[in-house]
Amino acid sequence: MKILLTGGAGYIGSHANKLLSSRGHETVVADNLGRGHREAVRWGRLAQVDLLDEATLDKLFEAEKFDAVMHFAALIFVGESVKHPGRYYRNNVQGSLNLLRAMRKYGVGRIIFSSTAAVYGTPETSPLPEDHTLGPINPYGWSKLMIEQTIRDFCSAYGMKAVIFRYFNAAGADPERETGEKHDPENHLIPLVLKAVRNPARSLKIFGSDYDTPDGTCVRDYIHVCDLAASHLLGVESLMEPGGEGTARVYNVGNGEGFSVREVIEATAKVTGKKPRVEQAPRRSGDAARLVASSEKLKRELGWRPEYPELVKIIEHAWAWEQTLPVD
Ligand code: UD1
Repeated sequence: MKILLTGGAGYIGSHANKLLSSRGHETVVADNLGRGHREAVRWGRLAQVDLLDEATLDKLFEAEKFDAVMHFAALIFVGESVKHPGRYYRNNVQGSLNLLRAMRKYGVGRIIFSSTAAVYGTPETSPLPEDHTLGPINPYGWSKLMIEQTIRDFCSAYGMKAVIFRYFNAAGADPERETGEKHDPENHLIPLVLKAVRNPARSLKIFGSDYDTPDGTCVRDYIHVCDLAASHLLGVESLMEPGGEGTARVYNVGNGEGFSVREVIEATAKVTGKKPRVEQAPRRSGDAARLVASSEKLKRELGWRPEYPELVKIIEHAWAWEQTLPVD
């Protein structure tokens, strides 16, 4: 298959790119390199394209005949989305609309979309099934939910087929250390704990210790980035099967087990043999107390099984990758 990966120079896209290429698929990465990294595109070809630039996007679709699109490209910081909502709606929603328009124009009918647990807002049950009430609590989550709906509408209007993955907390790195997590600035818990372990001048702020959870800190479902990538391979294979035109299937991707911020810090200390300096800090706005996935549907319908469900293994891979980066 020939697959277009928008955002393929980013964290999750680069792992998917490696997996697809290792399975013999031809990949083309479309990335504006605003937050992605040229050096992360180690497989397939890179086309420097911004999804807001419709003319360049059209040229790409004119030049290549894609069998499917995996749409990873997005701005992803919750806090930034609260401060700059316009930036998020423009980049994420308008960019996706342009992509869907080009797909329709050039007859590309299969898409896999990176959505998020943030579409659920404040959960009423745990683990969360896909049919749980939706209600994002920040513009980032809203932008993803709007794109989900746009994709559904394009599917029913134009006979396209889609798989929408709602990721929980992507973590870990390629075990061969060929790619990994490198956000600037870094906002995610596991890389921040690892940076604090490496650099004693840093400390790790715990955002809120008064949540209604066993130790008072937020609970999240950490999912190995390679297991996320594997779900994409299964997803695209399922889209190649006959039938299903006009439909968009939604799947959660998580391990079904929650770990608190303190548990992540303890597990990191176990892996690295060092404890980071820790500070208590106020709650971060937009954070839900507990987000844990039910991925039963993904297991049942696509036969997905996580290869690295253990938190310690996820942190080991993240630690091995972190040590390839300069100390900061
Ligand atoms: C969020 C989004 C997720 C999005 C991801 C990408 C929600 C519900 N989830 O994940 O959809 O894809 O960002 O950016 O909006 N923490 C600390 N100290 C730190 C950093 C984090 O205590 O220095 C805590 C947070 O409060 C949170 C947990 O660690 O409880 C995980 O945070 P983070 O890694 O930023 O991911 P989410 O916010 O869960």
